[in-house]
Amino acid sequence: MSKLISGKMLSAQINKELRNEVTQLKEKGVEPCLAVILVGDDPASAVYVRNKKRTCDELGIKSVGHDLPENTTQYQLENLIHDLNNDPSVNGILNQFPLPIGLDESKIIRKISPEKDVDGLNPLNAGLIAMGQPIFISCTPYGVLQMLKRSNISTSGKNTVVLGRSNLVGRPIATLLSSKGWDSTVTVCHSRTKNLAVITSQADILIAAIGIPEFVTFDMIKEGAVVIDVGINSIEDKSKKSGTRLVGDVAFEEAQRKASLITPVPGGVGPMTIAMLMANTVNAARLQNGLPRLNI
Ligand SMILES: NC(=O)c1ccc[n+]([C@@H]2O[C@H](COP(=O)([O-])OP(=O)(O)OC[C@H]3O[C@@H](n4cnc5c(N)ncnc54)[C@H](OP(=O)(O)O)[C@@H]3O)[C@@H](O)[C@H]2O)c1
Repeated sequence: MSKLISGKMLSAQINKELRNEVTQLKEKGVEPCLAVILVGDDPASAVYVRNKKRTCDELGIKSVGHDLPENTTQYQLENLIHDLNNDPSVNGILNQFPLPIGLDESKIIRKISPEKDVDGLNPLNAGLIAMGQPIFISCTPYGVLQMLKRSNISTSGKNTVVLGRSNLVGRPIATLLSSKGWDSTVTVCHSRTKNLAVITSQADILIAAIGIPEFVTFDMIKEGAVVIDVGINSIEDKSKKSGTRLVGDVAFEEAQRKASLITPVPGGVGPMTIAMLMANTVNAARLQNGLPRLNI
């Protein structure tokens, strides 16, 4: 039976470190500030934004919300980002995605100043990741790296298989883990990959980020592998009051019989993502005030 890597526990540890760091920054006259933009009234996005603002409050980070109506134009949104880019009291800018239909996410990602891009999605930051010189790493990949590091999992020379190649999750994880320092031999799989189970069953570290409930089954996992489940999927469950429950991309119970270490869903990668947004915001404040990046 495998051991759990608890994102809940690790994120609490990171948040505690960041809370101390924010206190010290405030003593130096620096108050980290995150601008959070929410366009429209998608209920899931509203929950994510609320959780991010609440964690800011808990850590002593100032958060400034910008809630815009569904009919906001591209021009209005870009104008707001322009103003936030030029506002010295704002260190980080987060635009919650998805945007309402008609707004261009990739233009918004490019519009956010790379120095304030705490989501790590701007092409400059993505490029720096590809060059092995990251400044802001997108929050979910950053969370996955922290889980490996803080669980003392050696990645050097290991066969790592990443399921999924999105710009948000799979691709940056694969790039980072193959870079110097992490030194994994990484295989990236996607929807056109042939003989997927043969590839995944050779992975010392298997990272699933595809968005298909319980896709990774017992036979796809190598005995003793480390399994990181990024997926968050809502499935029907009549036994629950809500009628649904969350599962990952890995069939957890059977995977647990084969893996040495595994992340649960919920309580795994999810909580790490918000903690790493906080870390990026603190680092943005440090860098903008001439202080070196924290080595988290
Ligand atoms: N824990 C968190 O905080 C967090 C944050 C972000 C996302 N997520 C979750 O992570 C999962 C992935 O998110 P995402 O944004 O990366 O999703 P995405 O943009 O939809 O990308 C999914 C990737 O999976 C690949 N894929 C789809 N079906 C496949 C199959 N049958 N076999 C192999 N690969 C397949 C796709 O391949 P192609 O490129 O060929 O289409 C694509 O590269 C989702 O469940 C999402 O909810 C969690």
